[in-house]
Amino acid sequence: MQGSTVGEFAELLGVPSNDVIKRLFMLGQVLTVTQTMTDELIELIADDMGRKVRVVSPEEEYAVVYNDTEDDLKPRPPVVTVMGHVDHGKTSTLDAIRHTGVAAGEAGGITQHIGASVVNIDGRQITFIDTPGHEAFTAMRARGAQVTDVIVLVVAADDGVMPQTIEAINHAKAANVPIVVAVNKIDKPGATPDRVRQELVEYGVIPEEWGGTNMFVDVSAKQRIGIDDLLETILLQADVLELKANPDALASGFVIEANLDKGRGPVATVLVQRGTLKPGDAVVAGTSYGRVRALVDPRGNHATEARPSDPVEILGLSSVPTAGDEFRVFEDERDARKLAEERALRERLKAQEAKTHMSLDDLFSRI
Ligand code: GTP
Ligand code: MG
Repeated sequence: MQGSTVGEFAELLGVPSNDVIKRLFMLGQVLTVTQTMTDELIELIADDMGRKVRVVSPEEEYAVVYNDTEDDLKPRPPVVTVMGHVDHGKTSTLDAIRHTGVAAGEAGGITQHIGASVVNIDGRQITFIDTPGHEAFTAMRARGAQVTDVIVLVVAADDGVMPQTIEAINHAKAANVPIVVAVNKIDKPGATPDRVRQELVEYGVIPEEWGGTNMFVDVSAKQRIGIDDLLETILLQADVLELKANPDALASGFVIEANLDKGRGPVATVLVQRGTLKPGDAVVAGTSYGRVRALVDPRGNHATEARPSDPVEILGLSSVPTAGDEFRVFEDERDARKLAEERALRERLKAQEAKTHMSLDDLFSRI
């Protein structure tokens, strides 16, 4: 769909266009049926009418209306990102969590196969996305997309708040994502977990026990102390958020990472946010498209489907998409291809434009 007039928008939502016009009027916007609505207005009015709408690529004017009613929305697992300063123990914490997840959940080792993992705690799933996907997050946030529901901020108890700790806090605030603080390395002789709490107050991260809204857990990733507590706390935080998505729809979500595999061709790890992704689906991811040849779960097993909050690898794409790209399933493969090709063309034009500007600059600098 190209843009959206008031009439088209009303039709998509299945409401009389007069209703939309009235609501627009209440917002001080006088528009007729044939006039085009801005992305902001589309989202605002839809929200007003209790519908969830996401404008997928505002610059391309492709608006997607997700006509999900309350009944369509089902609980989904939380998606969690571990952040923190260099060497404060992000990887160790994730390792400890995966270890616990295996011990408490299914048997069999987890080979860390893709940039995301799934742990099961007493039958409840938590999806972890690895931190190196930082750039992807920034790209996604720039498009107004939210990938992570909870940020676990790892702060070493012997080092305290450091530049990347502050960066992570800013990131969380900008994305409006709650922070669970893991005060790590409490086994170390110089560890002062309470000083970490004090330092964080300055940045608006205040422990619940001090009247704030942030949950804190003292852990030692190395000695596997407090990890169960941390996982329970993450689930508690998730409960507050009442996370939901419609699983009975064509899948969509974001590319977390992608690469060209020698044997398997282009491989993209995606996070499904809505709908259910299945082998055989016609998918577009950025400027890449194709039919899903196979889905591979974080353990390296073939999957028959991926539901909301599931990370999964997609095989069968025409090229390697970029981390942060949106992916979407189409009923008709031709539509997927058309969108991918239009995006590719637009990118080429942009690149050309940039090149032209550059050569003009070159020219001027020589005069
Ligand atoms: P980068 O990925 O480089 O930013 O580091 P990271 O945050 O992933 O930290 P990592 O898990 O690699 O840990 C850094 C160092 O701290 C390693 O030498 C770990 O063994 C050590 N470490 C991590 N957690 C603990 C802990 O709970 N106690 C102690 N004593 N050492 C820890
Ligand atoms: Mg690391």
